[in-house]
Amino acid sequence: MFKTIKSKTLFQKSLTIFLLAMTAVMFSSAAMSVQSLRGDRPLDSKSNKVSKHKVNTEEGGYDRNYKLQPPLIPHKIEKYRITLKGNGCLKCHSKKSHKKEKAPMVGKSHFIGRDGKETKTISKRRYFCNQCHAPQTKDSPLVENVYEGI
Ligand code: HEC
Ligand code: HEC
Repeated sequence: MFKTIKSKTLFQKSLTIFLLAMTAVMFSSAAMSVQSLRGDRPLDSKSNKVSKHKVNTEEGGYDRNYKLQPPLIPHKIEKYRITLKGNGCLKCHSKKSHKKEKAPMVGKSHFIGRDGKETKTISKRRYFCNQCHAPQTKDSPLVENVYEGI
């Protein structure tokens, strides 16, 4: 009988310590939190005015940080639509058109289907270009990035 009471208080003690530790962690991470683009306003009030983000144009393209990185898009893309009917990006990046448009052709990996076999036209897995490729804006990063390419 005595034993169970003792172990119960021990359990309660450790639970209190655990909860106190969790609260401390929550408070310290809140203090270090990043200012999001929306600002730190409550959800039921208006957000900060979002500034316009200018897309950066990088002559000659961006360096890749690792071999199989999908290269970043060095130009604006807002005019190019990707729909069921057509893909605006392929007007310049396809096998057919890339030479005339002086644009790099899509990677060879873009002609491999789900079954691992080569496809004649762009693989369905690579149709939605912006799934992997993204343009960059002239904004300063919200947090410092210390990643070094390999
Ligand atoms: C009007 C032609 C044109 C269209 C349309 C176009 N691009 Fe480009 N793209 C280019 C040219 C030219 C370059 C090379 C720019 C340079 O290196 O200075 C390029 C570069 C790129 C690169 C960088 C390749 C590398 O190896 O660094 C990517 C990725 C890319 N485009 C993706 C896209 C996507 C995705 C779309 C559609 C949303 C698109 N492009 C639409 C002409 C075009
Ligand atoms: C599932 C992710 C994914 C999708 C979707 C995708 N790409 Fe890529 N892309 C990559 C990766 C990874 C690379 C780098 C490896 C390679 O060259 O295959 C690449 C490379 C490229 C390159 C550079 C090729 C070279 O030889 O330097 C261009 C240009 C490109 N993609 C354009 C496009 C366009 C246009 C589309 C849409 C039609 C597209 N990609 C869709 C992942 C993707």
